[in-house]
Amino acid sequence: MKILVIGSGGREHAIIWKLAQSKKVEKIFCAPGNGGIKKIAELVDIKAGDIPKLLDFAKDNKIDLTVVGPEGPLVKGIADVFNQNGLKAFGPSKDGAMLEGSKVFSKNLMKKFKLATAGFKVFDNPDDAKKYLNEKGIPIVIKADGLAAGKGVIIPKTIKEGERAIDSIMVEKAFGKSGDTLILEDCLEGEEASVLVFTDGKTIVPMESAQDHKRIFDNDIGPNTGGMGAYSPAPVVSKSVMDDVMKNVFRPLIDGFREEGRVYKGVLYAGLMMTKNRPMVLEFNVRFGDPETQAILPRLDSDLADIMLACIKGTLDKIDIKWKKEACLSVVCASRGYPDKYEKNKEVIGLKEAGEIKDIIVFHAGTKDENGKIFTDGGRVLGVTSLGKDIKSAKVNAYKAVEKIKFEGMQYRKDIGDMAIKRVS
Ligand code: AMP
Ligand code: GLY
Repeated sequence: MKILVIGSGGREHAIIWKLAQSKKVEKIFCAPGNGGIKKIAELVDIKAGDIPKLLDFAKDNKIDLTVVGPEGPLVKGIADVFNQNGLKAFGPSKDGAMLEGSKVFSKNLMKKFKLATAGFKVFDNPDDAKKYLNEKGIPIVIKADGLAAGKGVIIPKTIKEGERAIDSIMVEKAFGKSGDTLILEDCLEGEEASVLVFTDGKTIVPMESAQDHKRIFDNDIGPNTGGMGAYSPAPVVSKSVMDDVMKNVFRPLIDGFREEGRVYKGVLYAGLMMTKNRPMVLEFNVRFGDPETQAILPRLDSDLADIMLACIKGTLDKIDIKWKKEACLSVVCASRGYPDKYEKNKEVIGLKEAGEIKDIIVFHAGTKDENGKIFTDGGRVLGVTSLGKDIKSAKVNAYKAVEKIKFEGMQYRKDIGDMAIKRVS
C-alpha cells in the first residue's frame, strides 16, 4: 500500500512513524514534511493547502490512502475532492470539517444536540459585542468564528482589553474573514483534557486520553502556543468521565450528524474542560491533535493503516483497537521567540545521542535537513517523547533525552506531566 501524508509537524511525524510499522505499507510520501520525516518517508515539495497539486500527485503515484494532518485542507474540502476522484482520504468531508472551520457552526450544533458547553452569544458587529461585554463583565472568552491558527481565542483581563480584542478581530481583521463574526462565551474553570476518537460515522472508538500544555511557560504562565508538551493517559479523564463524554458528547454528535446526512469519518477531537460538575466541550477539532498525537500513537498497539481504512470503508466495528499499558510523554523544544516571531536556521545537535536512549522517540516538527545536518525551521522544533511504566518514569526519561539536545535559543517547559503526577501521587 502507498500512503501520502499531508502536513509537516510533529503530529505528522508521529502518524508516519506509526504507519511505517504496518506490514501492509510499502511506501510513504509526505507533503511537505520536515527534516525528521525525511528519514522514514519520501518528501514531496507541495504545500499542505495546495489541493489541486496534491490530487495530481496522488493520481500520478497511485496513492492508496491519503492522510490529512492539519485542519486547513479539510476545511477547504480536500476529502471531498479526493473521494470524487476515486481516491481514499482519511479525514472528514467539508461539511464535517465545519465543526472546526466555524466556531459559530460548532457552538450552534452543540446547542442543537444538547452537548454540555459554555453559554454563548454570536455577534456580527463590534458595537453589539462591546455592549454585551460591558453588560456581562469579565471573566469572558472572545472567539473569532473561523480558523485563526490557534490565536483566535482571547480571555481578556479587563473590559478595555476585551474591547481592544473585539476591534482587532472585527475592525482591524487580525484574522481576516475569520473575524467577520465572533462569539462571546462564558468562562469555564477546571483542568483541560483532550479526548480523540476514530469514527466511520457510525462506530466510535475512543483513543486513550491526553493532556496538552498550551501556555509557553511552566505553571501555565504566558501566552497560548500550539502546545508545549503532552502526555497520555490523562488521569483527570477517569473511566466515568470517558463514559460520560462518549455517551453525552460523541454519540449524540456523530448520530445527529448522520441523521442530517453528514457521515463524519476520521478523527474527531474534543477539547474538554473538567468543570466541578462535569466535563464540558470547549471546542472540536476535526483531526489529530498536536502535540497530543505524539503522546497517543506510541501507545497504539494496533495497525494504524487498518484503522484508517476501516474508518473510510465504514467497517470500524470489525477492528479491535488495542493500547499499550505504558504511559507516554512528549516535551516540545521550541525556538527562541516562539509563540511570537521566532528564530530559524539554528543547527540542532545531540539528536543521535537522545534517540539512542531506551524508549525515546524524537519527533520532528519545525526542522529541515541540509546535507544530513538538522536545522531549526519553525516555532515548535521537536517533540522529545518517551514511553514509561507511568507518567513519572516517562517524564524522567524524556527530560534525560531533552538534555542531550541543543540548539541556540532552545526553550522548553520543565513541568510537562506534573499535573498528572500530582493527581496520582
Ligand atoms: P479553543 O480553540 O476554543 O479550544 O480555545 C483555546 C483555549 O482557550 C482552550 O484550550 C482554553 O484554554 C481556552 N478556552 C476556550 N474556551 C474557554 C472557555 N469557555 N472557558 C475557559 N477557557 C476557554
Ligand atoms: N493541541 C491542540 C490542538 O491540536 O489543537
